Amino acid sequence: MTEKRRPLLIVEDDPALQTQMKWALDAYDVAVASNGEEAISHVRRIEPAVVTLDLGLPPIPDDPGAGFEALQAILAEAPDTKVIVLTGQNDRANALKAVAMGAYDFLAKPFHPDLLSLTIARAFRLHELQEENRRLQAGRMAPSLGGILTRDPEMLRLCRMVEKVAPTNATLLIRGESGTGKELLARGAHEASPRRQQRFVAINCAAIPENLLESELFGYEKGAFTGAVKQTPGKIETAHKGTLFLDEIGDLPLALQAKLLRFLQERRVERLGGREEIAVDVRVVCATHRDLKALIADGRFREDLYYRLAEIVIEVPPLRARAGDASLLAHAFVHRFTTELKRGTMTLAPDAIEAIERHRWPGNVRELENLVKRAVIMAEGSVLHAADLGLAEDAAGENLNLRAVRDEAERQALLKALGRTNNNLSRAAELLGVSRPTLYDLMHRFGLK
Ligand SMILES: Nc1ncnc2c1ncn2[C@@H]1O[C@H](COP(=O)(O)OP(=O)(O)OP(=O)(O)O)[C@@H](O)[C@H]1O
Ligand SMILES: [Mg+2]
Repeated sequence: MTEKRRPLLIVEDDPALQTQMKWALDAYDVAVASNGEEAISHVRRIEPAVVTLDLGLPPIPDDPGAGFEALQAILAEAPDTKVIVLTGQNDRANALKAVAMGAYDFLAKPFHPDLLSLTIARAFRLHELQEENRRLQAGRMAPSLGGILTRDPEMLRLCRMVEKVAPTNATLLIRGESGTGKELLARGAHEASPRRQQRFVAINCAAIPENLLESELFGYEKGAFTGAVKQTPGKIETAHKGTLFLDEIGDLPLALQAKLLRFLQERRVERLGGREEIAVDVRVVCATHRDLKALIADGRFREDLYYRLAEIVIEVPPLRARAGDASLLAHAFVHRFTTELKRGTMTLAPDAIEAIERHRWPGNVRELENLVKRAVIMAEGSVLHAADLGLAEDAAGENLNLRAVRDEAERQALLKALGRTNNNLSRAAELLGVSRPTLYDLMHRFGLK
């Protein structure tokens, strides 16, 4: 199959010239508009990289006013569009004015078709180069934040946001399903902050029994309770000048919530059995997979504490909602584990990639990481198949219910189109042969943002 023809918009009110130009430019997917309004609606719909614009548009063909207006509107809508202005023979002044307004080039009528083609081809080339340049720039600035791998626009936005707030002392609340990379983001925030030379102290509020959690957090003096044989600073104190990561904050017992709130207000701790308060300078980051708002409604989480912690809230999307990330991560994990385990080069077979893209990943990135690791350890050959990952069912498409099959095919096509166009919604809609609103509906239906 040949490459899809690129969209080109011709804005021209003279029907004869329209036909002539369409014929001369049949290498492109040509759309024609006869006035400024039509031009703008085409620009929105087909996003042409190049537009030819007749300056003498209606209502008054000899007055370039409407042409200038159209030029302005096109560039306001899509500033990167290369607009080639077509003017009358003695209209040099207006041509120059158009270029000053941002037009890419001009041609005086009548022009030779070859000259027009050449000018248009050059405009497309320039547009492409600029796009490529931008892509490379974006790639270079892509987050190495905490080693987070992603191509998903929402994840990239979150990484940017974490980078932006990292230098401040604002408290971060990171929410997301289990295994989505909450701790990775928390460490990223620490690494990107001026506290990076100091400690990152993590404590899991769900993993420690309540009575021990208090002394873990706040420390104790010798003899504070049976077994307190020597003075021990708590985690909060240990994190002085660094970052304190409170994991599973939603599981913090109510009594300790009150105590934590007091610490956050006063920024001082008193060890159990102690008599003096110790000033502590920490940046607090917390994470939970729970719905804190629901816990608040149930009376299981203090609302005042929530607002102290939620200065900046980061909602990490589940892996299944990140277009193209599952296969990106899978490739990276194969590479990492084959290197770590000295297993030689291994690759993922197409059926494995298909199964990876299809799987719902309830355990998110951690589940994927574990599957790949196990597969790398167990595999006999150097090619990993869906079966090696334990995803044969996902690949075999066991469910033959037609509606489910159709749904699944649509989801796959959607993910592929988004992946292939790097989440350019207009181009993805084009690939899928649907309108943008239909694309939005589909994305909504499959939980893609
Ligand atoms: N975007 C990513 N790129 C690379 N590795 C990732 C990414 N997200 C998560 N991981 C890896 O996946 C595993 C799980 O991540 P992490 O522990 O940060 O998740 P979590 O949200 O804290 O999970 P839980 O709620 O279960 O504690 C880790 O080994 C982490 O290194
Ligand atoms: Mg975690």
